[in-house]
Amino acid sequence: MNIVLRNKQMEAQDIRKNFLSFFKARGHVIVPSSSLIPDDPSVLLTTAGMQQFKKYYTGSADAMRDFGSNNTVSIQKAFRTSDIDEVGDDTHLTFFEMLGNFSFGGYFKKEAICYAFDFITKEMELEISYVTVFSGSQQVPKDKESCAIWQELGVEDIREEGMEDVFWGPTGSSGPCGPTTEMYCKNTQGKDVEIWNIVFNEFFCSGSREALLSGKANLTPLEKKGIDTGMGFERLVMIIEKKKNIFEISLFAQFLELLPKEVDERHKRIIIDHLRGASFLLADGLRPSNKEAGYVLRRLMRRTLVYEYLYKIPAHVLDAILHDLTHEYGSFYAEVLSASGIIREAFAD
Ligand code: ALA
Repeated sequence: MNIVLRNKQMEAQDIRKNFLSFFKARGHVIVPSSSLIPDDPSVLLTTAGMQQFKKYYTGSADAMRDFGSNNTVSIQKAFRTSDIDEVGDDTHLTFFEMLGNFSFGGYFKKEAICYAFDFITKEMELEISYVTVFSGSQQVPKDKESCAIWQELGVEDIREEGMEDVFWGPTGSSGPCGPTTEMYCKNTQGKDVEIWNIVFNEFFCSGSREALLSGKANLTPLEKKGIDTGMGFERLVMIIEKKKNIFEISLFAQFLELLPKEVDERHKRIIIDHLRGASFLLADGLRPSNKEAGYVLRRLMRRTLVYEYLYKIPAHVLDAILHDLTHEYGSFYAEVLSASGIIREAFAD
């Protein structure tokens, strides 16, 4: 079978389904995305798939009881405010979808790495450019085991990195953490793009990620070791569709082309990113305000409306994009379609 052709025919919707069924066939229970507005008051918005599962790593809840399995898989809605100023470049987004598989004492390094390897190289028929492994720190030893697993799989380019890059630190004020191994693939221009982050949650960290990095947090071993992985969906689609930047993927191209051609390319990307991010936040019940998450939403909406004003984009253009966007995503995220009216009204006000 022609690999390129097979990949080209795969639609975003098929990739989502493929990911979920790959892990379902390997004993994972499919868990829907949690809301972008998290339960954890120490976190502004949901930034990772593991957030809804924090309590299963720490042992304060039992995955077997709640899901009938110690292994789960999800496609999580994620929003990273830290990336807001990078939007418009080739790889950053505020809102993105994160594909992830999780284990709470079920399996560990060997299976997690082999699953990711098989999914990327066999299911998606992509080539791994290189992988990273943890180089070790004062508190945590070098990850020789992952290195050996990658070598056994035939991956030759294995790079060691430190705490800053390949150590997952807690979301919020404390939480599970541990070393990671990351997978990189080349985009069509030969640039390496991080695709998949595989976290080995081995410790409970008593402080925030900042405290961890400055050596001020305590690490205590978790009773059961856990797996937490995250793969940026849009980046994966970019590699599969052989595009040079994230905004060229079919998911975005259909919206970008609705904007007038006079709009600067970077501004077009910002408008589409912000319309999409704001739509998902509104669909999860957030409303623009002066504080916290509501302020983030207000910022997204304002910036979009400023460009609409500056470029004299007719109001029906953004409305048409919102209509198409809520329908495109609505087939997977029902809440976005149900909130279509609310979303379009919020931008019309
Ligand atoms: N929690 C990890 C991440 O978000 C997988 O990168």
